[in-house]
Amino acid sequence: MDRKLVILGAQWGDEGKGKIVDLLSEGYDVTVRYQGGSNAGHTVIVNGEKFILHLLPTGILHPHVVGVIAQGMVVDLEVLDRELENLKSKGIDYEGRLLISDRAHLVMPYHKLLDKLFERKGGIGTTLRGIGPAYMFKFGRKGIRLSDLDDEGRFRALLEENTAFVKDLCEKVFCERYDLDVEETLERTLRLYEKYKALVTDVSQYLLRSSGSILFEGAQGTMLDVDMGTYPYVTSSNSSALGLSNGTGLSPKFFSDAYLLGVAKAYTTRVGGGPFPTELKGEEGNKLRDLGGEYGSTTGRPRRCGWLDLVALRYAVQINSFDGLIITKLDVLDSFEEIKVCVAYEHGGERIEHFPASLKILQEVRPVYRTLRGWLRSTKGIKEIKDLPPEAKDYIRFIEDFVGVPVIMLSTGPKREEFVWLRDRIKVSSL
Ligand code: GDP
Ligand code: IMO
Ligand code: MG
Repeated sequence: MDRKLVILGAQWGDEGKGKIVDLLSEGYDVTVRYQGGSNAGHTVIVNGEKFILHLLPTGILHPHVVGVIAQGMVVDLEVLDRELENLKSKGIDYEGRLLISDRAHLVMPYHKLLDKLFERKGGIGTTLRGIGPAYMFKFGRKGIRLSDLDDEGRFRALLEENTAFVKDLCEKVFCERYDLDVEETLERTLRLYEKYKALVTDVSQYLLRSSGSILFEGAQGTMLDVDMGTYPYVTSSNSSALGLSNGTGLSPKFFSDAYLLGVAKAYTTRVGGGPFPTELKGEEGNKLRDLGGEYGSTTGRPRRCGWLDLVALRYAVQINSFDGLIITKLDVLDSFEEIKVCVAYEHGGERIEHFPASLKILQEVRPVYRTLRGWLRSTKGIKEIKDLPPEAKDYIRFIEDFVGVPVIMLSTGPKREEFVWLRDRIKVSSL
């Protein structure tokens, strides 16, 4: 077995994973998405053209890379169809290099409807892509897997049973009219399945047999992990390293020689509700949002912005056992005279050094900041360490010292070529 690299979000998602996976997957044979679904929005800019990938592994943009959608994902066939048609229209041929797990669960129209209804009753600000309900049905043993579509009788029975349940819920609990049609859903789903059936296979077996190098692309971020994140303001899958094994159907042993990198912005953002200790609600937050173009890639919602939370980042490094970090969007901080980083929380007169589980505490903590000097120079597009301002190097060194792992790369712009290797690139590229 060849090299294995895992790229994960180290914050609340949208860290720039898409850009980094695009960049690094060039050196890999296979790229695997293994959790979440079309709630993800991974942006890649290649030759001035912007791609936002929701379901597809980002590596698919490289003509030599095999893309894999593993069993831990929840697959919306409508989105899959749209994304693949879009690739085709841009001249990207995925023929023979996309595989979809036959064990993956489907996101059905009634999941999207339920997402909307749950959100209306005191929701958390989801992406409305049906992700939570699809995983609810999966863990409630009512889900429909791609392999169920091979047996029309079984598919019909599951669909009828689920539809009756959702209709009841809709009408009796939410007092909403339910007008999704079973026959139409059945016919549309089977039509799409027929179109992509040839791609559906046992991907765990494929990965076990693969002799090539594999990059695993996490979606969302560690702090949105259903177990380790800011519950209940999280997504419904394990978006930290915890999701690798259950998302791929492979033993933790399979990943024992993998290299794990966390991607973090040089500041922090989150979209949707939930605690965010370093959030800046005033002018500075607006400045970060404007300079960073912080609007959701999936929903277009403005992202909440704040200073880098090193307590949360160190927690992410610890629970994921990251070997290193990649810091993105350094250029967004170029015009700040002073840059703050959160080094502890304060709660009820006590100093908290470790990221707490309690939602109440997280909502009440006040960040304890260290103020570092800004560099007031453009870092946009810088490619060499020698061109970085000394204050920017100090900023990165401070992060490394605090979280205890090296920052191996900096991203200095949204384009593929805008990055700086900080550590030995030969070593990293041969990982
Ligand atoms: P992902 O979900 O982690 O892939 O991140 P998104 O694509 O949702 O959001 C990241 C945004 O930042 C996208 O618009 C990227 O094009 C952009 N981006 C990525 N890296 C950089 C960078 O280093 N500098 C700047 N200015 N933008 C970046
Ligand atoms: P990428 O992969 C940022 C957030 C939603 C909401 C919560 C639950 O692009 O980093 P869901 O629709 O998953 O049930 O919503 O999780 N969320 C994301 N935030 N980036 C993402 O993906 C996200 N995917 C979900 O905003 O707060
Ligand atoms: Mg995103």
